[in-house]
Amino acid sequence: MNTALEPVIQSLIDEKYALIEDRYHSGMSVLAELKNRIFGKKDKSDFKAYRGKRSEFHEASNRLLVPVRDNKIALEKSPDIGWLKELYPDIANFMLSFPQIQGLNSSWQWYLKGISYPGLNKKIHPYYGAYFPTRFEHLRLFYNWLKNYSGPKTAAIDVGTGCGVLSFQLLTQGFEKVIASDINSNSLISVSKSAEKFGFEDRLDILQSDLFDQIDHKADLIVFNPPWLPAQSEITGLDHAIYYEPGLFERFFEQAHNHLNAEGTLVLLFSNLAQTEGVTQLHPVKTELSNYNRFRKVDLLEKKAVKASRKSKRRSHRKNEIIELWVLEKVLSAD
Ligand SMILES: C[S@@+](CC[C@H](N)C(=O)[O-])C[C@H]1O[C@@H](n2cnc3c(N)ncnc32)[C@H](O)[C@@H]1O
Repeated sequence: MNTALEPVIQSLIDEKYALIEDRYHSGMSVLAELKNRIFGKKDKSDFKAYRGKRSEFHEASNRLLVPVRDNKIALEKSPDIGWLKELYPDIANFMLSFPQIQGLNSSWQWYLKGISYPGLNKKIHPYYGAYFPTRFEHLRLFYNWLKNYSGPKTAAIDVGTGCGVLSFQLLTQGFEKVIASDINSNSLISVSKSAEKFGFEDRLDILQSDLFDQIDHKADLIVFNPPWLPAQSEITGLDHAIYYEPGLFERFFEQAHNHLNAEGTLVLLFSNLAQTEGVTQLHPVKTELSNYNRFRKVDLLEKKAVKASRKSKRRSHRKNEIIELWVLEKVLSAD
């Protein structure tokens, strides 16, 4: 324990704010000590207890503040984060929390570097706040399925497009028109910037929509890589990529049925993560198929998830994870 940091750690825990005034690295040291203090030697395989500590850490760490002046972090030896100019062009002097700065920094690094995804000949550079995958099993599974897809390719809808990766795969594989939608507005900025780079602007409609609320087209193919875990509390922003609220899948299947052409195909990417993490035994796709007569299963492709790296804290939960690609067709009513 670094005793010099003890008063700062105690303030953060006591719900007081603290401002870093010297070096960027001081912020890292404070967060490392705070983590030790809150988590102690807690067993990380107890997922529920771990979640409680995580939210305590989240709140305390966000009381550690960083000064920003003229679009730069006003601390010695700080990283240069282009988002500060892009997102706050007219604010000269303000503060952000250290975790916010870390998030901006990490996002900026990904944006600069870009990511190569299966089936795409150019990198995607995800805009701040847009979800982008860093594991590729589901993208490979979808791309391999798509290469063998022989149905009509007039129009597809990519619900919850994130950084647009599935839309770009669809366009690369010859879909004439793709509608990419997401509830997250940053995701739409991201997709529209990438669409220009790929030269797909004319064949891609990008819109902000809660599921199909703003979509009035029908499609030959609808694809949805939804959040895979049920939310345990209220969710905002990027959490929508990971956690789903009650009723999301009921609404999705009902609306998807209305937006799919008669001979159309519905593809969902999912995994058994909620089961392997002990969160729920319920599986939204299986629930839909057994409770309603709207869709029929055509195929289920499965792939074992690649084990997380040895450094990952979550490796025990990922060990038995299976990624799933569900192919469904529409059940037409008798009348
Ligand atoms: C797991 S991410 C998938 C992103 C991308 N399709 C991919 O495969 O990488 C889920 C996406 O669904 C979006 N989303 C969640 N709830 C939504 C809703 N009700 N309507 C539209 N999009 C939603 C999230 O914002 C997120 O971008």
